[in-house]
Amino acid sequence: MADPVLHLEGLRKRYGSADTEYEVLHGIDLRLERGEFAALIGPSGSGKSTLLNLIGLLDRPSAGRLVIDGAETATLDDTALTRLRGERIGFVFQHHHLIPAFTAEENVAMPLLIARGRPDAAMFERAGELLGRVGLADRRRQLANRLSGGQQQRVAIARALAMSPALVLADEPTGNLDTHSADEVFALLREVNRQLGTSFLIVTHDPRLAHRCDRIIELVDGRIVSDRANEVAAGRSPVQGSAEETE
Ligand SMILES: Nc1ncnc2c1ncn2[C@@H]1O[C@H](COP(=O)(O)OP(=O)(O)OP(=O)(O)O)[C@@H](O)[C@H]1O
Ligand SMILES: [Mg+2]
Repeated sequence: MADPVLHLEGLRKRYGSADTEYEVLHGIDLRLERGEFAALIGPSGSGKSTLLNLIGLLDRPSAGRLVIDGAETATLDDTALTRLRGERIGFVFQHHHLIPAFTAEENVAMPLLIARGRPDAAMFERAGELLGRVGLADRRRQLANRLSGGQQQRVAIARALAMSPALVLADEPTGNLDTHSADEVFALLREVNRQLGTSFLIVTHDPRLAHRCDRIIELVDGRIVSDRANEVAAGRSPVQGSAEETE
């Protein structure tokens, strides 16, 4: 069987130092298969962003195993981690983090530019194709700060897909959007998942959106308290075996 896109075992994160040290994640076990579309929910301060930052290799765990797309991360140095992150993981944050003075196309091409070191025509072709996928073909040359909030988030999604990642991590991707734009952006994530088979782990506070995911993982006080297949997610059968995985 193919490696899962994500495999966590006993993952812990502690902050502070020596006598002030406290633990935020208390041993997370989680497996995400290829093509899964999962929501990560839980109260404020439960550790969702901390967990996403560990999975996204933006921060190192204090203990436990973190395997991304078959790569055991504990043994990798910073250069290898940066490379793995760049090639296998896409990020979508609550705030889009686009470069305002760059065009939509330039923003989307940025990860490719970073990976390849200098611009080429293929990069911009790829950016244009991705902007078409997110419904912004006619906005390629528009400056990012001239786009609406929903459009900017679509550009951020296109940018997250530039390197064809196996896994996209989204931390409240619709948190800054009105209901209508949030629905559209969410539908777009779902479409990418179905068409490209990209796995998604999406932090959301919106129960309506969580119920449109195939699987709902709930974190409370740094522990997974429930992990269940969501059978009502439209038009798709529940994910096999995900419900009992972590217990
Ligand atoms: N860099 C850090 N240094 C110290 N403590 C931190 C750090 N980052 C997060 N924490 C603490 O870890 C806990 C979990 O924070 P985290 O941001 O992961 O929560 P969250 O579930 O994403 O919350 P929210 O829904 O409000 O975004 C909090 O108590 C927070 O104060
Ligand atoms: Mg958070």
